[in-house]
Amino acid sequence: MRNQIVAGNWKMNNDTAETEILLDNLMQHQIREDVSVYIAPAFTQLTQSVVKLKNYPIAVAAQNMNAVASVAHTGEISSSMLKGVGVNTVILGHSERRSLYGETDDSLKVKVIKAIEDGMGIMFCFGEELSERKENKHFELVKMQLDSALFDLPNNAWKQIILAYEPVWAIGTGETASPGQVQEMHAFIREQIKLQYDSELANQVSILYGGSVKPNNAKEIFSMTDVDGGLIGGASLKSDDFMAIVNAF
Ligand code: PGA
Repeated sequence: MRNQIVAGNWKMNNDTAETEILLDNLMQHQIREDVSVYIAPAFTQLTQSVVKLKNYPIAVAAQNMNAVASVAHTGEISSSMLKGVGVNTVILGHSERRSLYGETDDSLKVKVIKAIEDGMGIMFCFGEELSERKENKHFELVKMQLDSALFDLPNNAWKQIILAYEPVWAIGTGETASPGQVQEMHAFIREQIKLQYDSELANQVSILYGGSVKPNNAKEIFSMTDVDGGLIGGASLKSDDFMAIVNAF
């Protein structure tokens, strides 16, 4: 049985007061034991969130990290800094990091290796643009993203990896990929892992879907065979919506 996971990517939302309110509201809910729940606040809200959630079953992830440690990189954050505040998981490769901050499959590969070395869990995001889907190049593109950033990793590194397929055209747009499109891609991804490694590993890796997941569509998406949960943006900013998604399995 693969881990079922729901992660909230807060992006650049929620200052200290807003974080306090959202966490208080989340903590009103009972979290089911068969779902691993994460939130990923901004760097400045990590300590606040870790402290507040100390005895509550929601893990805190970061939205990014640098690929090197303790050097002159103004404005950057290292894995040891994250671990120092109790954060052991990081989102890497989100499409906004790729499109707005120049992250590439090659630069992400270096981050992935560093995060693995440092014992961090990784939620690795990837997915095609609308133009690539229209040209029917989405499978090729996704394979290339996985190939270049992840497929050189040794088998045992995959214990630290959660995949998040996020078609760029569905992120923040209100346009969700259909359950059929999601299943088709997730099965393809699992097949690529099997071809590159073996079926045992392929069956263990959790693959999340991200892109306009809401309380009204989560159940159908999560019911797909190869979908193990979701990476949630907009709907993670409202506690009731986020918890409805957690409870959609
Ligand atoms: P969305 O964002 O749910 O707002 O589409 C998903 C994401 O960016 O991870």
